[in-house]
Amino acid sequence: MCAYLNRRGQVIRVGVGTPRQTQIPPLELPRYGAERLSGIRCIATHLKSEPPNDGALTAMALQRLDALVVLNITGTGFTRRGGGATGYVKEAYLAHLTPQESQAVLASGNLSKVGSSGVQSPSWNVSPPMSLDELTQQDFLDLVENLEAEFQREFVAQQVDIDHDRVLIVGVMTDEKSHLEFHDTLAELARLVDTAGGDVLQTVQQKRSRIHPQTVVGEGKVQEVALTAQTLGATLVVFDRDLSPAQVRNLEAQIGVRVVDRTEVILDIFAQRAQSRAGKLQVELAQLEYMLPRLTGRGQAMSRLGGGIGTRGPGETKLETERRAIQRRISRLQQEVNQLQAHRSRLRQRRQHREVPSVALVGYTNAGKSTLLNALTNAEVYTADQLFATLDPTTRRLVISYAETGETQEILLTDTVGFIHELPASLMDAFRATLEEVTEADALLHLVDLSHPAWLSHIRSVRDILAQMPVTPGPALVVFNKIDQVNSETLALAREEFPLAVFISASQRLGLETLRHRLTQLIQYAVDSR
Ligand code: GTP
Repeated sequence: MCAYLNRRGQVIRVGVGTPRQTQIPPLELPRYGAERLSGIRCIATHLKSEPPNDGALTAMALQRLDALVVLNITGTGFTRRGGGATGYVKEAYLAHLTPQESQAVLASGNLSKVGSSGVQSPSWNVSPPMSLDELTQQDFLDLVENLEAEFQREFVAQQVDIDHDRVLIVGVMTDEKSHLEFHDTLAELARLVDTAGGDVLQTVQQKRSRIHPQTVVGEGKVQEVALTAQTLGATLVVFDRDLSPAQVRNLEAQIGVRVVDRTEVILDIFAQRAQSRAGKLQVELAQLEYMLPRLTGRGQAMSRLGGGIGTRGPGETKLETERRAIQRRISRLQQEVNQLQAHRSRLRQRRQHREVPSVALVGYTNAGKSTLLNALTNAEVYTADQLFATLDPTTRRLVISYAETGETQEILLTDTVGFIHELPASLMDAFRATLEEVTEADALLHLVDLSHPAWLSHIRSVRDILAQMPVTPGPALVVFNKIDQVNSETLALAREEFPLAVFISASQRLGLETLRHRLTQLIQYAVDSR
């Protein structure tokens, strides 16, 4: 039997079974974060004379219980007549969580443990067996207050910035990806989270032949994620793939922390970065389109939280109203985007009218496009060692003069949004204005960060996305950047695979003359074949 009590000593729940079987679902628990306990303690009876097992202690950690008390009952068991149980408390154990910091001190002589698989496990303390009298003399409130003060100190020490999400990344390795690709995806996701302003605390991985339809990872792994999230005080769990609304709902219910997917992280970055009116409009549009099918899911989770009768009806109605409002906003935004596009296309026509050839700079995010644009044209474009530093297309005039003839050639160079593999479909649409610049350019300059270990797959991703564009873009010149950071083998390999490519370092201004020269050739070719 397990009885759950709040700090006022009121019994709030009684269950028949082990602490693990009777635990309170995460959504029903108060959420205070890593610096507090849940304010609930569990008193469990147990028929064997032994301390609480790992299952019971894990349940305590998952619920962040104030304490777990196990009363070992011995006695005669069931009486012959009447069926009542008789027995007495032979001994009692008092278990509680302890802050991570004090693990080393506690590790000897009790059950405090540190994860062996690299996953951080919670640490707890289990008292030696005591009599019921000794147990009743314990001052629970005092214990809890001291513990919370310690958790608070630890939390503050760990906290880099209160505003930052504390993130746990979950990666699922399926057969469709190689080991290397999987690790690249995870590394990229960590950078995306970092760019979005989150602190990655830990990455949890699982290898599966196929995705679990309800929860993506298996049941045991969900428990591990929940436990790790509780232990580390994570505020957000990010999955390395797109999640269906139902999966998000199931995962949030079991983990007790907000769960998002890769697309949501990218949308968040885009939302933070968009500067221009067009950029902002399109991000909002993409976010709303992403949110709409997910509304029902969140609504149901909430009506479950609020508890049945009386909440469900109005809740659903409100949801309907909300959905209609969002749909209206989406069509209004869509109109505005179309108007802006028409305006841009007029601008472009004016440019074409002037017959100045245009080149779009494309490349995987962080390839160094903005740095190159700055180096070539002295434009002030924001550059940063982050993903998607630039979101809005910037067009600059580049004048190339020929030493031999003294002639000059003018080119319009446009910096575009960074590419990324598996670009979410909603973003493909939302950023079509940016990408349109690509298809309307006379030629493309495809910049590749050769210092990135996955440069070959980056080239493939960019080409894949370009192949999906409605209008086929003009000829592309592959330019390898960051050669200042590249060893000779990689250089040789790239030369062999891409004999026509140009090699530069935008930041060190190496190879820019050759690039200018090749650009004019490219333009010549593109204009001739217009
Ligand atoms: P997005 O906006 O994400 O698409 O990025 P981007 O392609 O515009 O890249 P950006 O110009 O912001 O550069 C990314 C990082 O690479 C910055 O930290 C640059 O300083 C660095 N970088 C650019 N060119 C070079 C180079 O030739 N060598 C080295 N070592 N670093 C470079």
